Amino acid sequence: MSEKFDVTVIGGGPAGYVCAIRASQLGLKTACIESRDTLGGTCLNIGCIPSKSLLNLSEAFHKAQNFSKIGIETGDIKLNLPKMMKNKEKAVTVLTKGVEFLLKKNKVTYIKGKGSLLGENKISISGKDNDTKNIESKNIIISTGSKAVELPGVKFDEEKILSSTGALSMSKVPNKMIIIGAGYIGLEMGSVWSRLGSEVHVIEYLDHITPGLDREISNEFMKILKKQRIEFHLNTKVEKVSKSKNGVTIETSDVQNNKNLFQGDVVLISVGRKPYTENLNLEKVGIQCDDKGRIKVNSKFQTNLKSVYAIGDVINGPMLAHKAEEEGIAVAELISGQAGHVNYDLIPGVIYTSPEVAYVGKSEEELKNKNISYKVGKFPFMANSRAKAIDQPEGFVKILADYNTDRVLGVHIIGPHAGEMIAEMSVAMEFGASSEDIARTCHAHPTFSEAIKEAALSVDKRQIHS
Ligand code: NAI
Repeated sequence: MSEKFDVTVIGGGPAGYVCAIRASQLGLKTACIESRDTLGGTCLNIGCIPSKSLLNLSEAFHKAQNFSKIGIETGDIKLNLPKMMKNKEKAVTVLTKGVEFLLKKNKVTYIKGKGSLLGENKISISGKDNDTKNIESKNIIISTGSKAVELPGVKFDEEKILSSTGALSMSKVPNKMIIIGAGYIGLEMGSVWSRLGSEVHVIEYLDHITPGLDREISNEFMKILKKQRIEFHLNTKVEKVSKSKNGVTIETSDVQNNKNLFQGDVVLISVGRKPYTENLNLEKVGIQCDDKGRIKVNSKFQTNLKSVYAIGDVINGPMLAHKAEEEGIAVAELISGQAGHVNYDLIPGVIYTSPEVAYVGKSEEELKNKNISYKVGKFPFMANSRAKAIDQPEGFVKILADYNTDRVLGVHIIGPHAGEMIAEMSVAMEFGASSEDIARTCHAHPTFSEAIKEAALSVDKRQIHS
C-alpha cells in the first residue's frame, strides 16, 4: 500500500520547503520531495546564497586593496580563490542543512528522489538507484523552479560556456570574461569577477541594462558600473558563440548591422531563466502550460487539475525567491481553508552589486504607461551624512507618489544598503502610506535611511539637506 499524505510538495526550494513547513504547521500531513542531494533549491545551492557569499567576499578583497588609502597598512593583498570558494560552500552547506532541520522540526516527511505525476492524487518517486515508489496525496504542489535559458545551439559546458552555476565556481580568475545579458545575474557575476581581477564585457541586446527597472536608476546604475571598469556593449545581438582552443569567441552585430568579434576566456550566458518542469509528466496527466512553458494556475494557484497546484518559478511572475516563499505560504493556507494571499504589487527587487539597487512598486515608466499622474521626490546619498562619513556617496533615493492622493506608488534606491532599506518602504506601502507619512516619520541620525525621509520631503520640494 502506498503512503498517503494531505499535501505533497514536489521541489524543496524556497517555494516548496516553505509551503511544506506552513502546511505542516496547519496540521496537514505533509511530504516534500527533492531530487537534489540537498534542500533549498536553486536559491540556496546555486543561486542567491552562493552569489551573495561571493559578492561579499570579492567586495572585501576589493576594499582590502585600497586599505592603505584610508590609513590601514597591510602587506601585499593576495587572492586565495580556493579558500574563498570553500567559504562560499560553507555558507551553502550551513543553510541547506538548516532547511533539512526545519523540515524535521516541523514534522514534514522529506523524500529524496524525482517526483513525477501519475494522476491527480498520485506521484511516483524514483530514487538515485532507480528504485521507485508511489505515494498518494490529497493535494499536490508543484514547485520545481527554473533553469537557465540556453542560446539556440549553444550548450552550457560550465567550463568555458557558463550558466550562473559555472560562474559561481570557477577554479581560476579568467583574464577576460564575456557576459551575455545585462540582467541581475550578469551584473552580479560581472561585479564578482571584475573585483577579483577579470576584464569584464557585458553584451546586451537592448539599449539599456536591467530591463523593467526604473530607467533613471538603470542609467545611473550603468554609469556607476562603468566606473568600476565593467564595459557595456548595448544594442548588440549575439550571432554565434563558439569555443576556441584558449577560450570562447562571440560574433555579434549591432543595430546598423556592424559585425563585431569578442574573445574571452569564458562566456557567461545570463539571458533569463525558464520553468523546470521536465520529468513531471505534465502532458500525460493533462496539466496546461502557457506558451512560455509556465504552468497555468488560477488565483488560488490551482492548475486545471483541481487537486494539483503550482507555485514559484514554474508559474507566471518574477523569478524571485521571496515571491516564491509568499506563494508557498499562501497556497498552504488556502488548502487548509484560510485566506492565503500574495500582494503582487509589492514584491521588492534587489540587485546585490555595490552599491545595491532596490525597488518596490511602480517605476516611472509604468506610471506613465498607465496614465497615472505622479510627483517625484529625490535625494542623493552625496548629501546624506552617513554615506559621506563612510565615503559611499553614490546613488540616490527616488519616491513616486500619486499626484492627487500623495500615496506612495513606487520607491527606487541605488545606494549603500539599498536592499535592506527597501523593507521600510515595503511595509509603509502595505499600509498605504503617503509621502507625507514618510516625511513626518523620525529617522535616526546619522543613517542611510534619512535619505528616504529627505526624498519624501522632496516630493513637496521641502527637503532640508540638499
Ligand atoms: P534577466 O531577465 O534579469 O536579464 C536577462 C538580460 O539578457 C536582459 O537584459 C535581456 O534583454 C538580455 N538578453 C536576452 N537575450 C539576449 C541575447 N540573445 N543577447 C544579449 N542580451 C540578451 O535574466 P538573468 O539575469 O539571467 O536572471 C534570471 C532570473 O533570476 C531573473 O528573473 C531574476 O529575477 C533572477 N535573479 C534574481 C537575483 C536577485 O534577486 N538579486 C539575482 C539573480 C537572478
